[in-house]
Order: sequence, then C-alpha cells, then structure tokens
Amino acid sequence: MTIPKPANNQKKKFDVHSVRGDFPILRQLVHGKPLVYLDNAATSQKPQAVIDALVRYYSTDNANIHRGVHELSMRATEQYENARGKVKTFLNAADDREIIFVRGTTEAINLVASSFGHKFIKAGDEIIVSNMEHHSNIVPWQILCEQTGAKLRVVPITDTGELMMDEYGKMLGPRTKLVSILHVSNSLGTINPAERIVKLAHDRGVPVLLDGAQSVPHMAVDVRKLGCDFYAFSGHKLFGPTSIGILYGKREWLEQMPPYQGGGDMIKSVTFEKTIYNDLPYKFEAGTPNIAGVIGLGAAIDYVNSVGYENIAAQEHALLEYGTKKLSGIDGLTIIGTAKNKSAVISFTMKQAHPHDIGTILDAEGVAVRTGHHCTQPVMECFHIPATARASFAFYNTKEEVDVLVKSIDKVLEVFG
Ligand code: ALA
Repeated sequence: MTIPKPANNQKKKFDVHSVRGDFPILRQLVHGKPLVYLDNAATSQKPQAVIDALVRYYSTDNANIHRGVHELSMRATEQYENARGKVKTFLNAADDREIIFVRGTTEAINLVASSFGHKFIKAGDEIIVSNMEHHSNIVPWQILCEQTGAKLRVVPITDTGELMMDEYGKMLGPRTKLVSILHVSNSLGTINPAERIVKLAHDRGVPVLLDGAQSVPHMAVDVRKLGCDFYAFSGHKLFGPTSIGILYGKREWLEQMPPYQGGGDMIKSVTFEKTIYNDLPYKFEAGTPNIAGVIGLGAAIDYVNSVGYENIAAQEHALLEYGTKKLSGIDGLTIIGTAKNKSAVISFTMKQAHPHDIGTILDAEGVAVRTGHHCTQPVMECFHIPATARASFAFYNTKEEVDVLVKSIDKVLEVFG
C-alpha cells in the first residue's frame, strides 16, 4: 500500500487507543462482548467532533441558507460555505465552484450520467467502466445506455482482482465518450492506478470520472494531480454523516452541463417564459440541501486532517498485513482480492461455511463484518462465488481486534468444520 502525503501539518502523535476514545460508539458490548467494528467499507463510525458539530448546528444555528438576512440564516450559510472551502482544500480542487454537495457517491454518479450523459453521449458512443465496479457505478450508465443507445464497455480484471490495463488501453477509441472507474474497490480492496487510467483516457481526449467512495477514508486525494474530470465520494464513509457527499467536477465541464434537478436556489430568476439558472455550484444544488450534513462533513474533514493520512495509512497497512497473514493460515479460508496495491479490506470465503453463516457466528462474538455480494455482483460472478465475508478496517481498529476476528473464525470452524 502506498503511504500518501498528509493533508496538512497539524499532526499529533498517533495512539490508536486514544483515537478510539474519540468514537463513543466503539465503547459498547454487543451480545455481551466488546464491539469489534470491521464494517468500515459499508460505513465508518463518527468521532465526537462530528456528533458535536451536528448537535451544535441544530441547537444554536439551524436556519435555511442563502435565503435570509437574519442572523441564524447568515450563520448557517457561512458554515455551509466554509465547509465547501474545506472540501476544496481537502481535494486540492482549483475552485470552490467545482465542489457540488450531493447525497453521496451514488447521487454524484447519477448527476454526471444524467447531465453530462444527456448532453454529450449519443447512440453508438461508448462508456467504459470496469468489472470491479459497485452497482452505483454500473446501473446509472446502463440507464443512460438504454435511453441513448450508447454502449457500456467493461474492463476485465485478473484473478488477483487487478484491472487488465492492456485491455483498457485497447478499449479506448474514437467512440469512447467517458471512463468511469473506481479508485479503490469496496469488495476486493484493490487500489487502481488512477493517474494512469486518467492519462490513457486523456491521451485520447476522453474525460474520466473516478469513484472515490473507498479512497478518501484511507488516502489523501489530489484531484489536480490525478487529473480526473470528476471525482465522487460519500461523507458517511469518511467519518461524517450519511446522505451527504461530494461531486467534484472541473469547471469547464460543469459550466457546459445542464442542471440535474430543478427547484429553489438553482435559479437566478423564474418566469413562465424563461428561467435563468444560477451560477456554479448552485446550478446543481436545487432545494434546501442537507445543511447539517455539510457542516458535519466539514467537521469530519477537520478530524481526519488532525489524525493525519500518514498515521491512517500506517495503521491500516499494519492491520492489512497482520490480518492477511493470520487469515491466510486458516484452513479452508480463501482471500478474494490479492492485488499488490490494496487498501485495508479482507474479503474471504470458507469452504466450510456460507458467508452469511460466518457473519452470524461472528456477530455473536461482537464482530461486525459485512457478508453478501457488497453491491458488486459482477465481481462475485467473476470469482464464481455467491458472496464473501468482508472485514474492512479503519485507523481506529487494532491488532487485538484482528485476533478476536481470528478467534471468532475458529468458532465457525467448530460449528461447521
Ligand atoms: N458500498 C458499500 C459497501 O461496500 C455499501 O459496503
């Protein structure tokens, strides 16, 4: 795993036990056992700083934004726009206007599919995705293809769960109008060569959307270094609230794209004869947004920056190495997704038990993992399996928790072995 550069300089010495103290939810027993939360790829837990930001906003500042001259509305607007600035810095975007608040990665991709798609994609055009996408980066493009007559091309993956880059290179052609590929895989953990993906597409004049849902919780992302045209992520996987996420888009694209939804705040003036749309970023933010969510996301970014991505990457890398070594030694257990460059996700199957049975036995031990297809049915098909059990780590997890996971898998063997 690469060790990304830190987002800023405010680092403190990393102590996992002290960091765990920031997450009240981790201090509980589940079925009488200490909670071992290893489902971070589905959603991560929230530090007290994020919870406090939400409570503070609703307790003292709640008002609608961009609409009132009164004090509360001013305060809410200021915090909302400050958070946009934080996201801009977090992603190293060039301009606040390139940051659109949406509900999450799914809505960000749907926005691009709908707005960019209907403007720039026609019958016979091609959109490239990969075989390791989650459903949110497949279905919006399928809908667009049904509506326009465009075609979806799928980059195959190897049996280690890596993109076949040669096939990708060959797929790019005069008909390709967009590439939309995930940065980090939720079910395999693979970290894709994002800069290379973008470079190859740009060499042929093709724009690229990177799905960053599983990258921003683990590594610093610099959209200008990546060079991507669009970048999407969700707040709830970044230790922030649910139902808030980001679409980053290069201004030159966003300016050309039509609104995605109509309503208040996305207009400058409305008459029955003609409506003038608002400027960026408001053109894409119709209706009252998730104001508290935006402020909470800002607090989550501050928190992540205070921990520091170097610390996050080092802790998660240690967990991945330790967990991979321990789980590889278990009889009948196969790790699915063994890419060289991996984030801290261990998906596995056991010949003795179905993933759902594994998940149920682990839950009884207080261990939370996700089981199923992880919204990546084509990945399961590729590996000829119905499902996996998946342990996904965050920086607040410990090696002792990996030991509990291993002991709990021993219980699976006792029951099914
Ligand atoms: N995409 C999320 C996951 O991997 C929900 O669990």
